[in-house]
Amino acid sequence: MEALMDIASRHNLSVIEDTAQAIGSDYKLKNGTTKKAGTIGTIGCTSFFPSKNLGCYGDGGAIFTNDDELAKRMRMIANHGQSTLYYHDEIGVNSRLDSIQAAILRIKLRHLDEYAAARRKVADYYDKAFSGNEKILTPARTKNSDHVFHQYTLRLKNADRNKLREQLASKEIPSMIYYPVPLHMQKAYQDSRYKTGDFPVTEQLCREVISLPIHTEMTEETLKYITSSVLDFLKLEVAAV
Ligand SMILES: Cc1ncc(COP(=O)(O)O)c(C=O)c1O
Repeated sequence: MEALMDIASRHNLSVIEDTAQAIGSDYKLKNGTTKKAGTIGTIGCTSFFPSKNLGCYGDGGAIFTNDDELAKRMRMIANHGQSTLYYHDEIGVNSRLDSIQAAILRIKLRHLDEYAAARRKVADYYDKAFSGNEKILTPARTKNSDHVFHQYTLRLKNADRNKLREQLASKEIPSMIYYPVPLHMQKAYQDSRYKTGDFPVTEQLCREVISLPIHTEMTEETLKYITSSVLDFLKLEVAAV
């Protein structure tokens, strides 16, 4: 983020920080101070979709800024462009957060750090179980920020991902691919300037990644079942965890 903010300030750009998968994460700046994800850029935004680290019971989201003028304008746009009731200064949208969702989030927000800690514990278990396995690359963590593990995503080397997914599904273990199709290969973003093969790293990652279940209520028994199922498939001994 610091490198991005540096580029942005040199070129007079605004930075919109998407923290839909990072909310609650602390970022340590070079000067030793800590900032929350979503508070470093010009605007931070997040999603409260139920599966998110801070999820509501339907659809929802929020944007953050320290700029009062910007906040005023964003509130206005989100409420049909009204500056005061029934006076529309510009054409806006209806993007108000439902009160019922806000009430749920108000309580859940107090527990966000606990949720992140629970997710990190799951990630620690997975990391340990898969460490040293030559067919698995576990997610990297950086020193200057906390990982809040919205997803726990592995990279598989020389393994059949579809067969692994089938095997896991037969044992009632869900898995997901985040994401199977990169932007430049999405039908919606078709553009004559970009074609398959132009972003080989991205395309390789799309072929190799697989995400395992992660949430705040996982038991050790469940984790053992999942990790041994993955390792059994890869025909390796279950690591002692
Ligand atoms: C990083 C990121 N940004 C944005 C979104 C979109 O959120 P929403 O569907 O609530 O608009 C998601 C949801 O999957 C996400 O993971």
